[in-house]
Amino acid sequence: MKTTAYLNRLFGCAGRTAVVTGASSGLGAAMASALAQAGANVLAVARRRDRLEALAEETKSMEGRVEPCKADLQSTEDIAHIAEEVTRIFGGCDVLVSNAGSGIRAPLNRMEESDFSNALHLNTTAQWQLSKALFPLLKSSGSGRIINVASVYGLGAPVMHGLGAYTTSKHALVGLTKSQAVEWARHGITANALAPGYFPTELTESALADKELSARLRSFTPQDRFGDPSELATALLFLASKASPYVTGVVLPIDGGWTAW
Ligand SMILES: NC(=O)c1ccc[n+]([C@@H]2O[C@H](COP(=O)([O-])OP(=O)(O)OC[C@H]3O[C@@H](n4cnc5c(N)ncnc54)[C@H](OP(=O)(O)O)[C@@H]3O)[C@@H](O)[C@H]2O)c1
Repeated sequence: MKTTAYLNRLFGCAGRTAVVTGASSGLGAAMASALAQAGANVLAVARRRDRLEALAEETKSMEGRVEPCKADLQSTEDIAHIAEEVTRIFGGCDVLVSNAGSGIRAPLNRMEESDFSNALHLNTTAQWQLSKALFPLLKSSGSGRIINVASVYGLGAPVMHGLGAYTTSKHALVGLTKSQAVEWARHGITANALAPGYFPTELTESALADKELSARLRSFTPQDRFGDPSELATALLFLASKASPYVTGVVLPIDGGWTAW
Protein backbone atom coordinates (compact mmCIF):
# COMPACT_ATOMS: atom_id res chain seq x y z
CA MET A 1 0.00 0.00 0.00
CA LYS A 2 1.27 3.50 -0.91
CA THR A 3 2.15 5.83 2.02
CA THR A 4 -0.67 8.29 1.24
CA ALA A 5 -3.27 5.53 1.05
CA TYR A 6 -1.97 4.05 4.31
CA LEU A 7 -2.12 7.41 6.14
CA ASN A 8 -5.56 8.08 4.68
CA ARG A 9 -6.81 4.73 5.90
CA LEU A 10 -5.52 5.52 9.40
CA PHE A 11 -6.35 9.21 9.77
CA GLY A 12 -8.48 10.23 6.78
CA CYS A 13 -12.01 11.47 7.50
CA ALA A 14 -13.52 11.28 4.00
CA GLY A 15 -17.16 10.24 4.29
CA ARG A 16 -17.31 11.17 7.97
CA THR A 17 -19.35 13.97 9.48
CA ALA A 18 -18.26 16.07 12.45
CA VAL A 19 -20.02 18.63 14.64
CA VAL A 20 -17.50 21.18 15.93
CA THR A 21 -18.71 23.67 18.53
CA GLY A 22 -17.03 27.00 19.11
CA ALA A 23 -15.92 26.98 15.46
CA SER A 24 -16.18 30.76 15.03
CA SER A 25 -12.71 31.45 16.47
CA GLY A 26 -9.53 30.12 18.05
CA LEU A 27 -9.05 26.40 18.58
CA GLY A 28 -12.51 25.44 17.23
CA ALA A 29 -11.96 27.20 13.89
CA ALA A 30 -8.54 25.50 13.55
CA MET A 31 -10.01 22.06 14.36
CA ALA A 32 -12.98 22.49 11.98
CA SER A 33 -10.52 23.40 9.27
CA ALA A 34 -8.25 20.40 10.06
CA LEU A 35 -11.22 18.02 9.83
CA ALA A 36 -12.36 19.52 6.51
CA GLN A 37 -8.78 19.25 5.22
CA ALA A 38 -8.85 15.55 6.18
CA GLY A 39 -12.05 15.13 4.14
CA ALA A 40 -14.79 15.38 6.80
CA ASN A 41 -18.06 17.22 6.37
CA VAL A 42 -18.26 19.66 9.27
CA LEU A 43 -21.21 21.35 10.94
CA ALA A 44 -19.54 24.45 12.39
CA VAL A 45 -21.44 25.68 15.46
CA ALA A 46 -21.28 29.02 17.33
CA ARG A 47 -23.35 32.17 17.94
CA ARG A 48 -21.50 34.42 15.46
CA ARG A 49 -22.87 33.28 12.09
CA ASP A 50 -20.75 35.72 10.04
CA ARG A 51 -17.57 34.10 11.40
CA LEU A 52 -18.88 30.63 10.54
CA GLU A 53 -19.76 31.77 7.02
CA ALA A 54 -16.23 33.16 6.61
CA LEU A 55 -14.82 29.78 7.73
CA ALA A 56 -17.04 27.96 5.22
CA GLU A 57 -15.72 30.26 2.49
CA GLU A 58 -12.05 29.85 3.55
CA THR A 59 -12.32 26.05 3.51
CA LYS A 60 -14.19 25.81 0.19
CA SER A 61 -11.22 24.35 -1.68
CA MET A 62 -10.85 21.53 0.88
CA GLU A 63 -12.21 18.04 0.32
CA GLY A 64 -14.66 18.25 3.21
CA ARG A 65 -17.53 20.74 3.34
CA VAL A 66 -18.10 23.20 6.20
CA GLU A 67 -21.69 24.27 6.90
CA PRO A 68 -22.47 27.03 9.43
CA CYS A 69 -24.97 26.43 12.24
CA LYS A 70 -25.83 29.37 14.49
CA ALA A 71 -26.62 28.10 17.97
CA ASP A 72 -26.25 29.18 21.58
CA LEU A 73 -25.23 26.22 23.72
CA GLN A 74 -26.91 27.82 26.74
CA SER A 75 -30.27 27.12 25.02
CA THR A 76 -31.77 23.62 25.02
CA GLU A 77 -33.79 24.47 21.87
CA ASP A 78 -30.57 25.41 20.07
CA ILE A 79 -28.93 22.14 21.16
CA ALA A 80 -31.84 20.20 19.65
CA HIS A 81 -31.48 22.36 16.51
CA ILE A 82 -27.81 21.26 16.11
CA ALA A 83 -28.86 17.59 16.02
CA GLU A 84 -31.64 18.40 13.52
CA GLU A 85 -29.30 20.40 11.29
CA VAL A 86 -26.54 17.78 11.12
CA THR A 87 -29.17 15.18 10.21
CA ARG A 88 -30.85 17.44 7.63
CA ILE A 89 -27.63 18.59 5.95
CA PHE A 90 -25.34 15.55 6.25
CA GLY A 91 -27.65 12.67 7.27
CA GLY A 92 -25.79 11.72 10.47
CA CYS A 93 -22.86 12.41 12.76
CA ASP A 94 -19.69 10.39 13.42
CA VAL A 95 -17.61 12.87 15.41
CA LEU A 96 -18.48 15.44 18.07
CA VAL A 97 -15.80 17.98 18.91
CA SER A 98 -17.19 19.65 22.02
CA ASN A 99 -14.97 22.70 22.12
CA ALA A 100 -17.06 25.81 22.89
CA GLY A 101 -16.23 27.23 26.26
CA SER A 102 -15.43 30.34 28.14
CA GLY A 103 -13.56 31.41 31.23
CA ILE A 104 -14.97 33.91 33.67
CA ARG A 105 -12.22 35.48 35.79
CA ALA A 106 -13.32 36.15 39.36
CA PRO A 107 -11.86 35.04 42.70
CA LEU A 108 -13.83 32.29 44.45
CA ASN A 109 -14.40 34.39 47.59
CA ARG A 110 -16.01 37.24 45.64
CA MET A 111 -17.71 35.43 42.76
CA GLU A 112 -21.47 35.68 42.14
CA GLU A 113 -23.31 32.37 42.20
CA SER A 114 -24.78 33.09 38.75
CA ASP A 115 -21.24 33.44 37.28
CA PHE A 116 -20.16 30.15 38.86
CA SER A 117 -23.29 28.34 37.56
CA ASN A 118 -22.93 29.85 34.08
CA ALA A 119 -19.35 28.60 33.78
CA LEU A 120 -20.41 25.12 34.84
CA HIS A 121 -23.41 25.20 32.53
CA LEU A 122 -21.55 26.15 29.36
CA ASN A 123 -18.33 24.20 29.98
CA THR A 124 -19.92 21.01 31.34
CA THR A 125 -23.73 20.72 31.33
CA ALA A 126 -24.16 21.94 27.75
CA GLN A 127 -21.42 19.53 26.59
CA TRP A 128 -23.35 16.64 28.14
CA GLN A 129 -26.66 17.89 26.69
CA LEU A 130 -25.19 18.06 23.18
CA SER A 131 -23.62 14.60 23.46
CA LYS A 132 -27.01 13.28 24.61
CA ALA A 133 -28.78 14.93 21.66
CA LEU A 134 -26.22 13.44 19.22
CA PHE A 135 -26.02 10.05 20.95
CA PRO A 136 -28.43 8.25 18.54
CA LEU A 137 -26.42 9.51 15.55
CA LEU A 138 -23.04 8.64 17.11
CA LYS A 139 -24.37 5.18 17.94
CA SER A 140 -25.67 4.61 14.40
CA SER A 141 -22.26 5.65 13.05
CA GLY A 142 -20.70 2.44 14.41
CA SER A 143 -17.49 4.42 15.03
CA GLY A 144 -18.75 7.42 16.98
CA ARG A 145 -16.09 9.68 18.44
CA ILE A 146 -16.43 12.34 21.15
CA ILE A 147 -13.54 14.74 21.66
CA ASN A 148 -14.11 17.12 24.55
CA VAL A 149 -11.82 20.12 24.77
CA ALA A 150 -10.86 20.36 28.44
CA SER A 151 -7.72 22.18 29.61
CA VAL A 152 -4.60 21.67 31.69
CA TYR A 153 -6.90 23.24 34.32
CA GLY A 154 -9.01 20.09 34.04
CA LEU A 155 -6.05 18.20 35.53
CA GLY A 156 -4.74 20.59 38.16
CA ALA A 157 -5.35 23.96 39.76
CA PRO A 158 -4.57 27.18 37.91
CA VAL A 159 -1.31 29.03 38.49
CA MET A 160 -3.20 32.33 38.65
CA HIS A 161 -6.13 33.36 40.84
CA GLY A 162 -9.62 33.90 39.44
CA LEU A 163 -10.06 30.73 37.41
CA GLY A 164 -11.75 28.60 40.09
CA ALA A 165 -15.10 28.22 38.32
CA TYR A 166 -13.39 27.50 34.99
CA THR A 167 -11.12 24.92 36.67
CA THR A 168 -14.07 23.26 38.40
CA SER A 169 -15.96 23.04 35.10
CA LYS A 170 -12.98 21.57 33.20
CA HIS A 171 -12.37 18.94 35.93
CA ALA A 172 -16.06 18.05 35.59
CA LEU A 173 -15.65 17.82 31.81
CA VAL A 174 -12.85 15.28 32.32
CA GLY A 175 -15.24 13.31 34.55
CA LEU A 176 -17.93 13.52 31.88
CA THR A 177 -15.45 12.27 29.26
CA LYS A 178 -14.55 9.20 31.31
CA SER A 179 -18.22 8.51 32.06
CA GLN A 180 -19.16 8.77 28.36
CA ALA A 181 -16.25 6.41 27.57
CA VAL A 182 -17.49 3.80 30.03
CA GLU A 183 -21.25 4.07 29.44
CA TRP A 184 -21.12 4.29 25.65
CA ALA A 185 -18.27 1.85 24.92
CA ARG A 186 -20.82 -0.86 24.08
CA HIS A 187 -22.32 1.43 21.44
CA GLY A 188 -19.02 1.73 19.55
CA ILE A 189 -18.50 5.30 20.76
CA THR A 190 -15.17 6.46 22.16
CA ALA A 191 -14.82 9.57 24.30
CA ASN A 192 -11.53 11.33 24.92
CA ALA A 193 -10.44 14.80 25.93
CA LEU A 194 -7.76 17.19 24.77
CA ALA A 195 -6.15 19.28 27.50
CA PRO A 196 -4.54 22.32 25.90
CA GLY A 197 -2.03 24.50 27.69
CA TYR A 198 -1.88 28.16 26.64
CA PHE A 199 -2.71 29.09 23.04
CA PRO A 200 -3.21 32.66 21.79
CA THR A 201 -6.96 33.05 21.09
CA GLU A 202 -9.73 35.49 22.03
CA LEU A 203 -10.07 33.61 25.33
CA THR A 204 -6.47 34.17 26.38
CA GLU A 205 -5.95 37.55 24.67
CA SER A 206 -6.06 39.72 27.80
CA ALA A 207 -3.93 37.34 29.91
CA LEU A 208 -1.25 37.03 27.22
CA ALA A 209 -1.25 40.79 26.59
CA ASP A 210 -0.21 41.31 30.22
CA LYS A 211 3.60 41.13 29.92
CA GLU A 212 4.27 40.04 33.50
CA LEU A 213 1.55 37.38 33.51
CA SER A 214 2.51 36.15 30.05
CA ALA A 215 6.15 35.68 31.14
CA ARG A 216 4.96 33.84 34.26
CA LEU A 217 2.72 31.53 32.19
CA ARG A 218 5.59 30.81 29.79
CA SER A 219 7.81 29.96 32.74
CA PHE A 220 5.37 27.15 33.61
CA THR A 221 5.78 25.72 30.10
CA PRO A 222 8.97 23.63 29.74
CA GLN A 223 9.10 24.46 26.01
CA ASP A 224 9.03 28.17 26.96
CA ARG A 225 6.44 29.09 24.34
CA PHE A 226 2.68 29.08 23.82
CA GLY A 227 1.06 26.67 21.38
CA ASP A 228 -0.25 27.37 17.92
CA PRO A 229 -3.88 26.28 17.29
CA SER A 230 -2.69 24.25 14.27
CA GLU A 231 -0.78 22.03 16.74
CA LEU A 232 -4.06 20.37 17.82
CA ALA A 233 -4.66 18.86 14.36
CA THR A 234 -2.64 15.64 14.71
CA ALA A 235 -4.11 14.69 18.09
CA LEU A 236 -7.59 15.58 16.87
CA LEU A 237 -7.36 13.44 13.72
CA PHE A 238 -5.92 10.54 15.74
CA LEU A 239 -8.88 10.63 18.17
CA ALA A 240 -11.47 11.33 15.44
CA SER A 241 -10.35 8.59 13.07
CA LYS A 242 -11.93 5.18 12.68
CA ALA A 243 -8.48 3.73 13.32
CA SER A 244 -8.39 4.49 17.05
CA PRO A 245 -11.30 2.37 18.36
CA TYR A 246 -9.36 1.05 21.36
CA VAL A 247 -8.41 4.48 22.75
CA THR A 248 -11.11 5.76 25.06
CA GLY A 249 -11.41 7.65 28.35
CA VAL A 250 -8.05 9.30 27.82
CA VAL A 251 -7.07 12.91 28.50
CA LEU A 252 -4.30 14.05 26.18
CA PRO A 253 -2.41 17.19 27.24
CA ILE A 254 -1.13 19.37 24.40
CA ASP A 255 0.76 21.79 26.53
CA GLY A 256 4.48 22.03 25.74
CA GLY A 257 5.12 20.00 28.90
CA TRP A 258 3.01 22.09 31.34
CA THR A 259 1.59 18.97 33.08
CA ALA A 260 4.92 17.09 33.01
CA TRP A 261 6.52 18.92 35.96
N1 LIG B 1 -6.80 29.10 24.23
C1 LIG B 1 -6.29 28.38 25.21
O1 LIG B 1 -5.17 28.60 25.65
C2 LIG B 1 -7.09 27.25 25.82
C3 LIG B 1 -6.45 26.45 26.76
C4 LIG B 1 -7.16 25.39 27.32
C5 LIG B 1 -8.45 25.13 26.94
N2 LIG B 1 -9.06 25.93 26.03
C6 LIG B 1 -10.44 25.61 25.67
O2 LIG B 1 -10.56 25.58 24.28
C7 LIG B 1 -11.90 25.89 23.91
C8 LIG B 1 -11.89 26.95 22.82
O3 LIG B 1 -11.35 28.14 23.36
P1 LIG B 1 -10.51 29.19 22.51
O4 LIG B 1 -9.27 29.41 23.23
O5 LIG B 1 -10.47 28.82 21.08
O6 LIG B 1 -11.39 30.50 22.78
P2 LIG B 1 -12.26 31.42 21.84
O7 LIG B 1 -11.49 31.85 20.66
O8 LIG B 1 -12.82 32.45 22.75
O9 LIG B 1 -13.42 30.44 21.35
C9 LIG B 1 -14.52 30.11 22.13
C10 LIG B 1 -15.59 29.59 21.19
O10 LIG B 1 -16.72 29.19 21.97
C11 LIG B 1 -17.89 29.73 21.37
N3 LIG B 1 -18.91 29.95 22.38
C12 LIG B 1 -18.78 30.61 23.56
N4 LIG B 1 -19.96 30.63 24.20
C13 LIG B 1 -20.85 29.98 23.41
C14 LIG B 1 -22.23 29.68 23.51
N5 LIG B 1 -22.95 30.06 24.57
N6 LIG B 1 -22.81 28.99 22.53
C15 LIG B 1 -22.11 28.61 21.44
N7 LIG B 1 -20.80 28.85 21.28
C16 LIG B 1 -20.19 29.53 22.26
C17 LIG B 1 -17.43 31.07 20.74
O11 LIG B 1 -18.26 31.41 19.64
P3 LIG B 1 -19.36 32.57 19.61
O12 LIG B 1 -18.88 33.67 20.51
O13 LIG B 1 -19.43 32.95 18.17
O14 LIG B 1 -20.61 31.91 20.09
C18 LIG B 1 -16.06 30.66 20.22
O15 LIG B 1 -16.16 30.09 18.93
C19 LIG B 1 -12.60 26.33 25.21
O16 LIG B 1 -13.36 25.26 25.72
C20 LIG B 1 -11.46 26.64 26.13
O17 LIG B 1 -11.80 26.48 27.49
C21 LIG B 1 -8.42 26.99 25.45
